[in-house]
Amino acid sequence: MSLSQTSTWTRILPPLWTHLRSFPLLTLLLSSLFSQCSQSKAVFAHFMVANTKTYNLATWKADIALAQSASIDAFALNAGYGMPHTALALADAFTAAEELNFKLLFSLDYSGSGFWPKDRVVDILAEYTPREAYFRHTDGRALVTTFEGFQAAGDWGDIKRVVANRTANATDTDNAGGDGCCFFIPDWTSVGPRRAGSVPSIDGLMSWDAWPNGSHDMNTTEDTEWMSVLNGRPYIMPVSPWFYTNLKRFDKNWVWRGDDLWYDRWQQVLELDPEYVEILTWNDYGESHYIGPLVEGAISILGDAGAPFDYVRDMPHDGWRVMLPYLIAQFKANSEEERTEVEIEEEVLSVWYRLSHAEACGDGKTTGNSESQHQTLMDPGEVLEDKVFYSALLEAGADVRVSIGGDNQSVEWTDVPSSGRGVYHGSVAMGQRTGEVVVTLEREGAFLAQMKGRSIETECPGNLTNWNAWVGNATGVRQNRPSGDGSGGGEGDESASVLAVQAWIGGVALGLALAVLFSTCA
Ligand SMILES: *[C@@H]1O[C@H](CO)[C@@H](O)[C@H](O)[C@H]1NC(C)=O
Ligand SMILES: *[C@@H]1O[C@H](CO)[C@@H](O)[C@H](O)[C@H]1NC(C)=O
Ligand SMILES: *[C@@H]1O[C@H](CO)[C@@H](O)[C@H](O)[C@H]1NC(C)=O
Ligand SMILES: *[C@@H]1O[C@H](CO)[C@@H](O)[C@H](O)[C@H]1NC(C)=O
Ligand SMILES: *[C@@H]1O[C@H](CO)[C@@H](O)[C@H](O)[C@H]1NC(C)=O
Ligand SMILES: *[C@@H]1O[C@H](CO)[C@@H](O)[C@H](O)[C@H]1NC(C)=O
Ligand SMILES: *[C@@H]1O[C@H](CO)[C@@H](O)[C@H](O)[C@H]1NC(C)=O
Repeated sequence: MSLSQTSTWTRILPPLWTHLRSFPLLTLLLSSLFSQCSQSKAVFAHFMVANTKTYNLATWKADIALAQSASIDAFALNAGYGMPHTALALADAFTAAEELNFKLLFSLDYSGSGFWPKDRVVDILAEYTPREAYFRHTDGRALVTTFEGFQAAGDWGDIKRVVANRTANATDTDNAGGDGCCFFIPDWTSVGPRRAGSVPSIDGLMSWDAWPNGSHDMNTTEDTEWMSVLNGRPYIMPVSPWFYTNLKRFDKNWVWRGDDLWYDRWQQVLELDPEYVEILTWNDYGESHYIGPLVEGAISILGDAGAPFDYVRDMPHDGWRVMLPYLIAQFKANSEEERTEVEIEEEVLSVWYRLSHAEACGDGKTTGNSESQHQTLMDPGEVLEDKVFYSALLEAGADVRVSIGGDNQSVEWTDVPSSGRGVYHGSVAMGQRTGEVVVTLEREGAFLAQMKGRSIETECPGNLTNWNAWVGNATGVRQNRPSGDGSGGGEGDESASVLAVQAWIGGVALGLALAVLFSTCA
């Protein structure tokens, strides 16, 4: 009896682990319980309140809905001091966010003439941080960040104390769950990690170094320096797709390397695994790194800021959002295994490129790198490459072809996910080619997806090169999707005894998980 039982166990146990791993309900329960307890990771998108003069409640809701469908948790509202319509904008923004169950936090902008007086910071934080839509760190405190403002570093001890006092009653509601304001994570990039990290009132730090120097590709050298002074306190890692600005009023006219950046940087997020990520940006049209929609009225700020031409109109960047739900789910996964098993809702293709060769038109006196950042100046065409860039989120491998002006070539991926499932990336030189850009994906000879983009032209309006990127996207057809569910398990004969034992072990594991949960979250 005991012998035969042993042999039954040895027969059942090894496959059991495989089954347990792919036991969907259990996995779901465990991960949802775990994430409720330690839901610390979040992704913000930097949002310029200055660009919302024409917004109303409906516009705010439309932007928030798009951000939610991209799995973004909150907008970090960039607010400069003394902007006349800020109060109106915030009223709509918080109402919209509350209705849609979205979150907002402040990124107080101390740059230029917008220096924030201490008492005004106290007022705005006391007014908005108790709101239900205000984003809170896991300890319940309202998260507050800045754009620069190291000169005011000494204000923050008092600000935190006074705001906590003034909101003590207000935050004593079911939406708070902690001790008021503030969890303070400033961006003081201009003074560097050591000086920023020496300020006692900080709870974490953010970096604005999201773009590489000259013709280098982006790496994590700066990020690891910021993280090393924090000793485990939260870091907000900046992630951006592009940078081109040409605004006379602000004396700005330069590019930094975009190119592969959107792909590379998200892989760097997965590698460093910070607590928070901030996408730069949702709607900073003037610096060409928006991933939000082109809102008519909002993009007109370019004219007010003295742009010599409109480098944003008809240059959508929505296609940069298509992989965010997948990438953000990977970022939030609790283990390497969970990461590889993130569901791919739809297979998608994203393609971006500039609409003229670097040498085709005048450079508009745009430089590669910026004197204002004490960098060595280069030609913009040395920093940005004349290439078509493509990324695809795929269930399994696919072939890619890029056609420019009818010259239809089979091209390579430069990056392939190790399991064959996930985000693929590549690029191909434009060469001397001009004309319509069409990128096509095929799997085993059958059509998967096709993106028809704008033409690469030989001339530019006003003979000025637009160094911004045009972004397109396409969705894969379902018929050509491999059937695999990605978990690799699920096959084999599930005899009644195996299922029974599986259910029993499931119950025990659930109990254990609950015990762990209560001991760590209590
Ligand atoms: C807030 O400050 C007032 C005046 O100093 C003090 O009386 C009160 O106890 C403080 N409240 C809290 C919650 O700290
Ligand atoms: C907090 O509530 C107490 C009692 O309700 C009240 O006396 C006090 O003035 C309130 N403090 C603030 C800052 O609102
Ligand atoms: C930027 O790159 C240039 C050229 O490679 C190099 O000389 C310079 O030191 C770099 N600067 C920084 C801050 O990395
Ligand atoms: C990271 O890139 C910078 C330029 O952006 C370069 O100066 C530095 O050497 C790079 N670091 C590594 C480890 O490659
Ligand atoms: C465009 O500008 C470049 C550089 O300023 C100049 O060399 C070229 O002749 C201009 N082309 C036209 C068509 O005006
Ligand atoms: C390029 O070739 C592929 C495969 O033959 C085809 O599906 C695609 O439509 C072609 N693209 C263009 C623009 O003709
Ligand atoms: C492109 O992406 C946007 C979201 O960023 C989506 O709304 C749209 O349907 C996509 N278009 C195609 C053709 O897949």
